Amino acid sequence: MTLAERGTRSSFVRTRRTRGSEALRSLVRETRLDPASFVYPLFVVHGRGQRQPIASLPGQLRLSVDQLAAEAAELRALGVRAVLMFGVPATKDARGSEAYDDTGIVQQAARAMKAAAPDLAVIADVCLCEYTDHGHCGVLTALGEVDNDPSLELLARMSVSMARAGVDVVAPSDMMDGRVGAIRAALDAEGHPSLPIMAYSAKYASAFYGPFREAAHSTPAFGDRRGYQMDPPNVREALREVAADAAEGADIVMVKPALAYLDVIRAVRESTPLPLAAYNVSGEYAMLKAAAANGWLDERAATLETLTAIRRAGADIIITYHAKEAAHWLSER
Ligand code: PBG
Repeated sequence: MTLAERGTRSSFVRTRRTRGSEALRSLVRETRLDPASFVYPLFVVHGRGQRQPIASLPGQLRLSVDQLAAEAAELRALGVRAVLMFGVPATKDARGSEAYDDTGIVQQAARAMKAAAPDLAVIADVCLCEYTDHGHCGVLTALGEVDNDPSLELLARMSVSMARAGVDVVAPSDMMDGRVGAIRAALDAEGHPSLPIMAYSAKYASAFYGPFREAAHSTPAFGDRRGYQMDPPNVREALREVAADAAEGADIVMVKPALAYLDVIRAVRESTPLPLAAYNVSGEYAMLKAAAANGWLDERAATLETLTAIRRAGADIIITYHAKEAAHWLSER
C-alpha cells in the first residue's frame, strides 16, 4: 500500500485520540469549574443560635446573625467568595416595611458578615415578596394587582438601606419594569455611585422556585407571579429584558432558572458583553438531592456535570445551593 493510500484510509476523523487519558482530556477541556465563580445563597432569620433545617432544601439552613462568622470562615476555606442574602423578617405588612428598615434582618446580617469577613462579597437580594403579608414582589392596587411604579420607590429605598448596611452588590429580583434605573438613581443620589447592580433580568415564572418559597416563607397568598415574571416559552423577550436593564445601568445580568433555560443563557451570552450570572434555583437543587437520596443518581458526578453545563452555556457566575459541596469536590480532584 502506498503512503497516499494509507493516508486516505486513516484520514477519517478520530476524535477519540484526545480522550485516551485524563491528562489529555484535561488539556483539551473547554470549560472548567472554579469555586470563585460560585455564589452561595443564605437565608437569615431573627433570633440567636438558629440553625433551622429547610425540609425542601436538604442540607440548607436558615441561620441567625450570630452564626454568620462561622459560615464565612467555612466559605473562605472552600474558596467561595460571595453570598446572596435573603431575609425572613420578624413581621410582614402590605408594604414590606422591614425590607427598607435599616435594622431589618438582612441589614443586620450584612453588617455582621462584613465585620467578620470583609473580603467576602455580600450580595443583597432586593425584592418585597419575603416582607409583604400578601407575598407579592411589589405593592398592590385597590384591585389586588401588583402596582409597578409605586413599587419602584420601595425597591429603591430597600437598595439604599442595603448599601448603608455595607453590602457589595444589590440584586433586584422583583421583575418590575424600570427598577434598575430607579435603584441606580437612588444609589447615586444617596452617595453610592460605585455600588454595582446585579439584575435578575430574565427571571421566569417558574415552577422550580417551590422549595425556595418554603425556605423564605414567600409563597404568594393569592394568585401567582405571571403578571410580572417572564413567560417560560419566550427567549427573544429575555434579550429585551437584558437590553433594558443594561441601558438602565445594570452591571451584571442574570438568567433564572438555569437548567431548563440553558438556551436562554446562551442567547443572552451572545447578546451582551456584560458579566452573566445564572441562578441554579431551589427546585433544580431539590431534584438532584431527591434522586441522590434514592440512590438513582451519582450525586457528585451529576452535580458537577450540571454546574459545568451552566458554565458551558455561557454563565460567568453560578448562584447555587451546591456551592459548598461542589467546591469541596473540586478541591479533591
Ligand atoms: C424573590 C426570589 C425568588 C427566588 C429568588 N428570589 C422566589 C420567587 O420569585 O418566587 C427563587 C430562588 C430559588 O428558587 O432558588 N422574588
